[in-house]
Amino acid sequence: MPARRPGGARLMAGRLYAISDLHVGYAENRAFVESLRPDSPSDWLIVAGDVSERVSDIEWTLGLLADRYETVVWVPGNHELWTTPKDPVTLRGEERYRHLVDVCRRLGVLTPEDPYPLWRGEGGPVLIVPLFVLYDYSFRAPGTSTKEESLAVAYEAGVVCTDERFLHPDPYPTRDAWCRARIEETERRLAAKEDGVRTVLVNHYPLVREPTRILRYPEFAQWCGTELTADWHLKYDAAAVIYGHLHIPRVTHHDGVRFEEVSVGYPREWRSWDGPRGPRPVFPGESE
Ligand SMILES: [Fe+2]
Ligand SMILES: [Fe+2]
Repeated sequence: MPARRPGGARLMAGRLYAISDLHVGYAENRAFVESLRPDSPSDWLIVAGDVSERVSDIEWTLGLLADRYETVVWVPGNHELWTTPKDPVTLRGEERYRHLVDVCRRLGVLTPEDPYPLWRGEGGPVLIVPLFVLYDYSFRAPGTSTKEESLAVAYEAGVVCTDERFLHPDPYPTRDAWCRARIEETERRLAAKEDGVRTVLVNHYPLVREPTRILRYPEFAQWCGTELTADWHLKYDAAAVIYGHLHIPRVTHHDGVRFEEVSVGYPREWRSWDGPRGPRPVFPGESE
């Protein structure tokens, strides 16, 4: 029940919301972001990656949202990590990520590098765990059993993610090496979590492969996650898993855990869905 103010008016309890793939490089998406307003000053917002490729756009977006929501939690998508000729910030790989974390710190936005915040509103207490664990080509193309074979099939089919051009893994030799380093570091941190404390795991990519099975081009799945996180929703007591990247907004359940794809996507996509979808309520969820 919402709390009541002494005067009898209802005090709206805050809600935990999630959204991703804002892609504000598109004017329509930028206008949509400008229109976002919380229902209550105590609402929190999770932003699960792909805000933009340009650092100035990312700063504008997260700054605007941090002014409106009580707490904003961000994880990087692949687009934030692209180094393109369109951005005066030419940092690559780990340095680019660390630069974005510094931007977030200035704005008061939480990142995977901060202590995990505890949601104490309705549905809580639950630990919000922003993750940056990338992908390692282990969601292989059908009929292949190595990264090299899987990539070869994708090139053959002409289905190659732009990350291959713009997402540099420096100082790691490969994107999969960066992924493995992130996995190790994250597992070390999560090992310190108290048993039984429930979590909301937030990652740009789905932590399990199943949601990628409906991709139009199955070769694309290799840029969508890693088998190394397949049991994290169970191992780390997830009450919900939030992700984006696929641009296929929907809810699925895996081992009884709610996985929610919360993307807005490109204007050409959301125009066919009656407009962009706003932030999805995580707690209380729509069925709660
Ligand atoms: Fe995206
Ligand atoms: Fe993405």
